[in-house]
Amino acid sequence: MSSITQLLLSSFKGPPPLPHASKEETYSSRIQDFRDQIKSGLPFALDFSALTGIVDALRHNNAIDDRKMLLEHVLVFLSRLPEGPFQTKLQNAVVELLYNDLPHPPATYIGDKYAWRCADGSNNNLSDPDMGKAGMPYARSVQQVNPLPKNQLPDAGLVFDTLLKREKFVKHPAGLSSMMFAFAALVIHTVFRTSHEDVNINETSSYVDLAPLYGHNQEAQDKVRMRNGRGYLHPDAFAEDRLLLLPPAVCVILVLFNRNHNYIARKLLEINERGTYVDPDTLTSDNPNRGAILLAQEEDLFQTTRLINCTWFASAVFSDYFSAILGLEIRQEDHTLFERGRGNVCSVEFNCLYRWHATTSVEDEQWVHQVFSKIFPGKQPEDLSIQDFKAKAKELHSTDPDVKHWTFGDMQRQSDGTFKDAELAAVLHNATDHAAGAFKARGTPHIMRLHEIMGIEQNRRWGVCSLNDFRKFLGLKAYSTFIEWNSNPEVAAAAEKLYGDINFLELYVGLQAEEAKPVVDGAGLCPSYTISRAILSDAIALTRGDRFYTADYTPFNMTSWGFQDCQRDPSAPGYGSTLGRLFLRTLPTQFNYDSVYTWFPLMTPQAMKPILRKLGDSHLYDFNKPTPTEDVPSIGNYRGAVEVLRSPEKFGTPQHVRSGAIVSGPGFFIASDDGARGEREQRTMLRALVGAPDGAQRILEYFYKTTRSMMMKESWTAVASNTRNVDIARDVLKYVPIHWACETVGIPLKAADAPSDAPGFTPREMWEILSDVYSYLFLDVAQSKLLNLQEKSKAHVDKLLHYIKDSSGVGLNLSVSGILSAVSNIFKTPTNHDELVARFASLGYDSDSVANSMLAILVGSTVELSQALTHLVDFFLDENKPTDVQVLCTKTSFGSKDESQLQGLVMEALRLDPAFRGVYRDSYGEQRVGNLIIKGNSRIFVDIAKANLDPEGFPDPQNVNPGRASRDMYLSGDGCEK
Ligand code: HEM
Repeated sequence: MSSITQLLLSSFKGPPPLPHASKEETYSSRIQDFRDQIKSGLPFALDFSALTGIVDALRHNNAIDDRKMLLEHVLVFLSRLPEGPFQTKLQNAVVELLYNDLPHPPATYIGDKYAWRCADGSNNNLSDPDMGKAGMPYARSVQQVNPLPKNQLPDAGLVFDTLLKREKFVKHPAGLSSMMFAFAALVIHTVFRTSHEDVNINETSSYVDLAPLYGHNQEAQDKVRMRNGRGYLHPDAFAEDRLLLLPPAVCVILVLFNRNHNYIARKLLEINERGTYVDPDTLTSDNPNRGAILLAQEEDLFQTTRLINCTWFASAVFSDYFSAILGLEIRQEDHTLFERGRGNVCSVEFNCLYRWHATTSVEDEQWVHQVFSKIFPGKQPEDLSIQDFKAKAKELHSTDPDVKHWTFGDMQRQSDGTFKDAELAAVLHNATDHAAGAFKARGTPHIMRLHEIMGIEQNRRWGVCSLNDFRKFLGLKAYSTFIEWNSNPEVAAAAEKLYGDINFLELYVGLQAEEAKPVVDGAGLCPSYTISRAILSDAIALTRGDRFYTADYTPFNMTSWGFQDCQRDPSAPGYGSTLGRLFLRTLPTQFNYDSVYTWFPLMTPQAMKPILRKLGDSHLYDFNKPTPTEDVPSIGNYRGAVEVLRSPEKFGTPQHVRSGAIVSGPGFFIASDDGARGEREQRTMLRALVGAPDGAQRILEYFYKTTRSMMMKESWTAVASNTRNVDIARDVLKYVPIHWACETVGIPLKAADAPSDAPGFTPREMWEILSDVYSYLFLDVAQSKLLNLQEKSKAHVDKLLHYIKDSSGVGLNLSVSGILSAVSNIFKTPTNHDELVARFASLGYDSDSVANSMLAILVGSTVELSQALTHLVDFFLDENKPTDVQVLCTKTSFGSKDESQLQGLVMEALRLDPAFRGVYRDSYGEQRVGNLIIKGNSRIFVDIAKANLDPEGFPDPQNVNPGRASRDMYLSGDGCEK
């Protein structure tokens, strides 16, 4: 990793970490010495440096065991010291330590007013609420030393034509895409919005708060909010009109953040973590409190969502964006925790530094031409003045103040206000394909002449320093000649003609026309030398300055779900890319889970290929343009669901596509690529499992005894009470099936406190492993997690198969005698597993099939069964449900009628509260189900939960009726349910 990257990383995380072991060792040895000396009583060696070492150790109290009373020992020692300078010094050190325990002034206050961002960014620094607020002046960081009188500076237009105007397009040397600069434009518009009336004023806040989406003040925010009691934004709307003139990818990214907002708000209401929200649809219009309830929850939902969505944006800025700026390796680290939060004010120097117009791609340049000729028909950039630009901006702003109607990129809104997914995605795919331009002198498209002149003039009005002043401020060597600044002799000579002396080279031009850095480690952006140094300071100011990414970055403010939702996983695809997750969430049919367009959009795919190859990860990604998937139709009526589920010759299960990536060979019947063979294998397995005449009974007994003993072990009593309490779902039902399955397939379970290198798994480890594999195979896992889960599941399966083969002897020799002898070596008393292995051997299966079948039992009979058992218990503990089960429990004898009633109740409970909502099926050729025509080779969703409530299948569907005609009428999906 480059030293620059390391520097930035350590700043993101606060002070550089202590060199671990050695510092801790020093503390503990100091503490031990101190204790020994205290024990031996006074007189004490009065060595002040040793004592401050002890105070220092106390300060690192995370490592101190407070049960050992170190602080108390220090205080006792202090009280015994004779008065004098030594006592005073030590006393001061202890008082300072205790004072510094708490921040002064406090880092934050309690209450919604402080937990939520103000629309205009005020109150970010609680001691100076206006710091960084919208509508305040820019800061100036650097003192101007070299005079730059306006009347002696060259004409701004001439400067552009001589030093900035693009000669020819040069591709970005590191392979950054046009998307990178679309995102960059969004980032800079989040923190810069120079007033057209008074250029000293920044109309937006200096915080990474997604102001282009949410508005730079309350009035702008009000325009984008629906205020529907759900905290939503208007569909696909955003607040910043200045972006409408930029290439469309900028606005598309904003639209996706709008969608992310509405997704998060929907989730918060659905999860209702604190139980304070109501579904607005359930409040009737005659409810007198309706308005007040909706108003209160609207604010809560909107502001909490905004916090989470802003953290998503910040995460994209500090991971995807800065990774691209610095080179890829930064992604490997976690940037989610920053320290400080004392506010930030953007400066004019940085406004000038970020004018990256030279990076405009060929395609975006054409786009700007189109826009220009639309708003200034028949004109050339030279024909226009800054006033013309500002007047036009004002005119466009007032044309349609309703954000719901704004369009861009030649797209039209649909009747519900949204844009078409395919059109939005096409813009993003293209922006990823298009190469950005290199940072360079004479690299800015001619069409941007006016924008650049505006920038240069603005800089002069701000009194910005010279390039050399800026370099000195950053601790960089001042340039002594123009050729040192830019080694292109033509550029250097032209600049010398315009400015005369290198010390008078103004910052704007000095930065934008300086020689660019070559591609080296730690310089993915390859901007000019001075920009590349300064940008690091700015990154740190932005990360550290914001209270909402520091002191107030808490699960309480964002809810536990929200906090978790915006975390990055650096081991995930794209090395934790947040943009990739955003695309998959908001355009799920347009981006594929393994595409480089999803995970590395800021580089062109062409540039990404060799990088991923070098990292050894290229096999994980698809480099082709994503192919859109179609919305999956759903079948929720009983008749249709039966038809699909019971016609394996027409509709196959799709799990084999996933299982093929983690299990090879036949036998894994729960996710077989051949439905009929899978069912055959499953029947054989069941025969082998139940085997002996009393086989089923023995399994039942195992479950009964294990459940009972775990309930005893895991339960507790409250004070003066005989009633035992148990968390039945967490501590019992989760693990009972695991105990049975592991014993059956021969995987040892070890105690929770067993050494980590002891063979086998703890029940909790086993649960995690099986949950991963089960989720990967059967659940609708978020696309963004799929690739990671696949790789994790593959590693889990390898480990499980290793144990299964080892304990069964199936890897060695599959003769009955071979297996029995292997088994007898492992187990002293025969177990279910021995019998199962022997029965398999007699069926003549090959070793891989046996191992895969055992794996199928393990995966198919655990996680989902635990889920189903939990649903059952929950169902029958509900006081509104029939009490028949409780009555059955009290019976002393249990006849076949009771048995059948119990089974009926179980079927009914799982019908009304199924373990999962439904299953997917793939059609073989075109099929018709009712009125629905299903195209060949396409996917459908069978909504079992809905079909279970269809009166055609289950008359009076809400009624729990254990006596319904036959068990066959119940719908079953995949996994253990089958
Ligand atoms: C083809 C793409 C782009 C176009 C057409 C464009 C156009 C403009 C225009 C017209 C302005 C003046 C805005 C105003 O005062 O109302 C401006 C300002 C600015 N542009 Fe760009 N720009 C583009 C891309 C970028 C990119 C990629 C960056 C860098 C990340 C950037 C950085 C800036 C900055 C920092 C300002 C000053 C903003 C302010 O002070 O309010 N621009 N640009």
